[in-house]
Amino acid sequence: MNNLFDITGNVTVITGGTGVLGRAIAKYLALNGAKVIILGRKADVGNKIAADICAQGGVCEFMKTDVMDVAVVKKNAEDILAKYGRIDTLLNAAGGNMPGATIPPDKTFFDLQIEHFQTVLDLNLTGTVIPTQVFLEPMVKQGKGSIINFSSMAAFRPMTRVAGYAAAKAGISNFTAFMATECAKKFGEGIRVNAIAPGFFLTEQNRSLLTNPDGTYTERGHDVIRQTPFGRMGEPEELCGTIHYLMSDASKFVTGTVAVVDGGFNAFAM
Ligand SMILES: NC(=O)c1ccc[n+]([C@@H]2O[C@H](COP(=O)([O-])OP(=O)(O)OC[C@H]3O[C@@H](n4cnc5c(N)ncnc54)[C@H](O)[C@@H]3O)[C@@H](O)[C@H]2O)c1
Repeated sequence: MNNLFDITGNVTVITGGTGVLGRAIAKYLALNGAKVIILGRKADVGNKIAADICAQGGVCEFMKTDVMDVAVVKKNAEDILAKYGRIDTLLNAAGGNMPGATIPPDKTFFDLQIEHFQTVLDLNLTGTVIPTQVFLEPMVKQGKGSIINFSSMAAFRPMTRVAGYAAAKAGISNFTAFMATECAKKFGEGIRVNAIAPGFFLTEQNRSLLTNPDGTYTERGHDVIRQTPFGRMGEPEELCGTIHYLMSDASKFVTGTVAVVDGGFNAFAM
């Protein structure tokens, strides 16, 4: 019988694939048969990740990008199509935060730096919209494709401090639902758009918020653990199963959803 989870030969593009979450997902998918293209800003890091994955038997390569630059992303798509002939999955994992877009406990909303706020909105939200617009086109021609965006716990209930990031991620959840409907209505049910909302995973973008230089948790890090019924942060590999499901035919009737992978964080009240 047909294996609904088969992703052999699936041409998968991961923006921000040089990040902590993106690289774990890239490795898992490549070692399970996908042809993975990591799009990132840092060529040295990206080439090393791709080489490691290839050394373990996967198909993976790095291409330099900037998700906020339409021309660069279009060139990426051209190069990928010239080499692989199709694009099956887009994971919009590029994202991040900036100090001026957050409000620490000793500051107030009046200290919010508008330029940082705008950059964080642009990187997370517009940096999802641009690759979606570019990579959707070949998917529409193929009549099939899966787009998976990266939302956050901050999208469901805005958290203290991370004003810009929370607004951007709420926008991503909203955009996901919008695009799911837009694609289904205009291009048919072959194109699906979903999001994943990771709980807390220690990565470069939140390390200084959640841990002290000696690796112990900050007060906020302890707050996160207390709010998570599993009592721990997630491991990047724990996102792979949900991504695998969302990109495969196992989720053929699933579009417009935000899949929560959070050790219970979002369900917990007290
Ligand atoms: N770590 C968590 O707990 C958590 C929780 C919820 C959502 N997320 C989201 O998951 C995604 C992956 O984040 P991560 O935790 O691996 O963080 P990370 O900082 O390790 O990775 C983010 C990646 O995005 C890349 N990037 C930044 N600007 C870019 C640009 N202009 N063009 C291309 N790439 C760019 C960075 O170089 C980096 O490789 C992000 O969207 C993040 O917001 C993370």
